[in-house]
Amino acid sequence: MKYDLKNQLVLITGASSGIGREIAIAFSQHNARLILIARNESKLSETQSFCLKNTPDCHIFIGDIGNWDTVKKLGNAIKDTIGIPDIIVNNAGEGCFLAIFECIENEVEHALKSPFLSSYYCVQFFIKDFMSRNSGTILNVNAPAAYFPFPKMIAYSCTRAAVRCFSRCLRLDLKGYRIKIQDLVPGLTQSNYFENNNMDWNKRIPFINRLFFKPLTPQEVAKAALKGLFRKQKLICPQPLMTFFIVCAQYFPNTFDFLVSLKSK
Ligand SMILES: NC(=O)c1ccc[n+]([C@@H]2O[C@H](COP(=O)([O-])OP(=O)(O)OC[C@H]3O[C@@H](n4cnc5c(N)ncnc54)[C@H](OP(=O)(O)O)[C@@H]3O)[C@@H](O)[C@H]2O)c1
Repeated sequence: MKYDLKNQLVLITGASSGIGREIAIAFSQHNARLILIARNESKLSETQSFCLKNTPDCHIFIGDIGNWDTVKKLGNAIKDTIGIPDIIVNNAGEGCFLAIFECIENEVEHALKSPFLSSYYCVQFFIKDFMSRNSGTILNVNAPAAYFPFPKMIAYSCTRAAVRCFSRCLRLDLKGYRIKIQDLVPGLTQSNYFENNNMDWNKRIPFINRLFFKPLTPQEVAKAALKGLFRKQKLICPQPLMTFFIVCAQYFPNTFDFLVSLKSK
């Protein structure tokens, strides 16, 4: 077996569907011990059943981790009953795919809850244990909009940029510790994400993304996550061309603002 996660305790948020679920299954096939979190108990139990075919150690915890009190409650239960994770995969995420003038209420607060606050709270809860043990990996699942924002997806793009900044700040704050911070950046992925977040992706995902990137399957993303984890890659892009886009976007932000605004017709 190429990758072995034996004895590694991995906490995966948002494992009840899509990418998180496939990461959990892929990691279970490589002997990881798993802690899975999401809000939907029946869907999370389904993921657990799949994982238990491969690993004897798969625990589920139910709750909204965009809430600090919930993270403290779940975190304490995890510490008391299972232990400190070796790897945290911050995957839970929702999206708000609106322009600022389409927002009616406090949609931005909802968008901030996951992935930004959920990732922040989960790391905050366990970080002192990682530091005293002087080891650990934090894998933040992010999106291309963190690097080049998409039009009419303001809360979505801002929260992804916040997650990107979170990874950078963690690297700065944890300098000197043997704690790895990695970013997984898949392009458009065929999960139920857009249905779950009331978005017709055909209408909002920029034409340039649709033109250059074939949608990924959650299994392809999970495979890339596993490979990137073992290669200790800082930036894990399942599509190599996306790495090129991300690098170019840093040097030519105005060009990217133009490109993402292009329409197909
Ligand atoms: N699909 C794409 O095209 C794409 C592209 C790039 C990046 N991503 C990112 O990949 C991640 C996973 O997305 P996906 O495509 O797999 O979508 P998904 O199928 O909708 O999965 C999202 C997961 O997050 C969980 N979740 C959301 N908010 C939560 C909260 N407050 N507390 C606990 N769990 C929460 C959901 O579970 P419950 O509803 O059961 O809580 C679900 O398991 C997201 O962060 C997303 O931004 C997706």
